[in-house]
Amino acid sequence: MKEQIVRREQTIILGIESSCDETAAALISSNREILSHHIASSAEIHASFGGVVPEIAARQHLDIIDTVIEAAFARAGLTMADIDGVAATGGPGLIGGVLVGTMTAKAIAHAKGLPFFAINHLEGHALTARLTDAISFPYLLLLVSGGHTQLLAVYGAGQYKRLGTTMDDAAGEAFDKGAAVLGLGYPGGPAIQKAALEGDARAVRLPRPRKGAKDCHFSFSGLKTALAQKWEKTEDKSASSRADFAASLQAAIADCLIDRTRRAMQEFVDKTNTGQLVIAGGVAANLEIGTRLKTLAKEMSFDLVIPPAYLCTDNAAMIAWAGHEYMAMDRDTRLDFAPRPRWPLDSDAPPPPGRGVRI
Ligand code: KG4
Ligand code: ZN
Repeated sequence: MKEQIVRREQTIILGIESSCDETAAALISSNREILSHHIASSAEIHASFGGVVPEIAARQHLDIIDTVIEAAFARAGLTMADIDGVAATGGPGLIGGVLVGTMTAKAIAHAKGLPFFAINHLEGHALTARLTDAISFPYLLLLVSGGHTQLLAVYGAGQYKRLGTTMDDAAGEAFDKGAAVLGLGYPGGPAIQKAALEGDARAVRLPRPRKGAKDCHFSFSGLKTALAQKWEKTEDKSASSRADFAASLQAAIADCLIDRTRRAMQEFVDKTNTGQLVIAGGVAANLEIGTRLKTLAKEMSFDLVIPPAYLCTDNAAMIAWAGHEYMAMDRDTRLDFAPRPRWPLDSDAPPPPGRGVRI
């Protein structure tokens, strides 16, 4: 009886994620319960190409999306009749995959007469800490993934002020490209982390681009170039030498992230008088970076939330949860929504100085 009452008071959203190489579906309730989540990855297929091939990814999404959604319902013991809304990643991302996800979500919403929510993939990452830890607004967000490295002040769903971004490569790209240089395979982040366990982080001297800069922007491309040049020059290509390179790269990326985040924390406290830091995106799964950020948070008297690794990398639970945030504000999306390959969280942010206009 009690169970039934709880059910009726809660709303349930089906979330769909398909913006890169993961096809994912999840069922999340408005009381922050993950009823089920299911992910199928095509990463193994892309590995032989050294990165995601958009056309292959789109076909994979199309082939598997129905099965993934069925699996999410089966795991939760629910049916389509139990859900109150459908949310899908509407961008940014590889457009073929985003089309597959949004078309599927729109079809379900239309057929069942349910609200549809087109979710910004980055916002999915940005709001995950509210699903896992019910953190209140505002908070400072370090968003570190394969395509983005940004520091954002989060004032509410849809309300972001960008403090910093990368001028070239993203932190995840630095891991991925570094791993490619060292022959450690794709995706590079987990491979570098594993290899680094056996290595000495002081063995290879690498630069710390933009360390000490007076703004909050990042740069990582010089790091990859320096690593490639040193690796080419070294005669010792043994596993232990490779581990030293991996550990040194990881330490350099961590140093840059810590330095830029410290700067943003100062700006954030000045602006909001609050001290909350959230980390999101695939690179947040890195244990060394997590440990360093914990120390930084302590030093700066900030509360820190790092969601569990499976919710830091791409998933559909974060998309369903963002759907709840918009449902609570009664802001569903029209069914004629067009997927967006580019979709900045703060569209008013000026481009970073120097070369890039990376948003
Ligand atoms: O957020 P995400 O799953 O996908 C994007 O939206 O980009 O992030 C993927 C990125 C990849 O660059 C991957 O190498 C990196 O996150 N990554 C890691 C770790 N796990 C994933 N980087 C460092 N350490 C990890 N443990
Ligand atoms: Zn992502």
